[in-house]
Amino acid sequence: MTDYVTALVDAHDTRTGAIKLHGRAAFDGMHKAGRLAAETLDMLVPHMVPGVTTGEIDRLIYDFVGSKGGVPATLGYRGYTHSSCISVNHVVCHGIPGERTLKAGEIVNVDVTPILDGWHGDSSRMFLIGDVPLKARRLVEVTYECLMLGIEQARPGNHMGDVANAIQRHAEKHRYGVVRDFCGHGLGRLFHDAPEVVHVGKPGTGPELRPGMIFTIEPMINIGRPDVKLLDDGWTAVTRDRSLSAQFEHSIGITEKGCEIFTLSPAGFTQPPYGQ
Ligand code: MF3
Ligand code: CO
Ligand code: CO
Repeated sequence: MTDYVTALVDAHDTRTGAIKLHGRAAFDGMHKAGRLAAETLDMLVPHMVPGVTTGEIDRLIYDFVGSKGGVPATLGYRGYTHSSCISVNHVVCHGIPGERTLKAGEIVNVDVTPILDGWHGDSSRMFLIGDVPLKARRLVEVTYECLMLGIEQARPGNHMGDVANAIQRHAEKHRYGVVRDFCGHGLGRLFHDAPEVVHVGKPGTGPELRPGMIFTIEPMINIGRPDVKLLDDGWTAVTRDRSLSAQFEHSIGITEKGCEIFTLSPAGFTQPPYGQ
């Protein structure tokens, strides 16, 4: 049985397991935080070139978010000490920024979560470094389509399973594997809250979507099998078969009519190559 509760704006932000139904103030706050997430990813575009290190990208994110009055939610989150996750090639998610230099032909996910006025904006996009082989570009394109097909299903009366099924069907049509081990999530004043947003499932299953729900959709799609493995650093998730993996993430809110995307790019950088 799914539990829903009306979210009170200044109530303490505890994780109760119930799905919060947020009001206008939360949507306003989420639009601002989501916009900052999108602007942060927009800012990165000219920097995502061969020779840059993931640590340098993370530093740019730290500086940019701070300059806009935000703070990266990942800093100090469960012992994580960086401002972003940067996941290259076969890294599925939670890649740790560091000394690694980006090379031509690589595909890279950058995931940012600025907190602004207490609200979390969570978004990630793929970047292509230099010339990228068609097979990898195709994965990135289909993964973006998966996210947007999922978002199309995000409206009152539909269920989480409808979102998941749209994503799974499109990915599997291309013989890609949809990662099961990581999900989207509710968010707001909390970084990770109910509900869990799975990316594989059957239509009509799972919690019903209701106006006021706020959550991310963030499918991770592999060229090969869905299976992942965690590296010894305790964070980095890679594909078990070492196949390439891609991900896009938006934060959205369910409205009476459908949904609003909080993390749309003001620059129009929806999917690579971002007009370059
Ligand atoms: N931004 C990620 C998400 O989409 C979470 C990263 S948590 C971290 O949920 F600690 F790994 F940074
Ligand atoms: Co997320
Ligand atoms: Co994220």
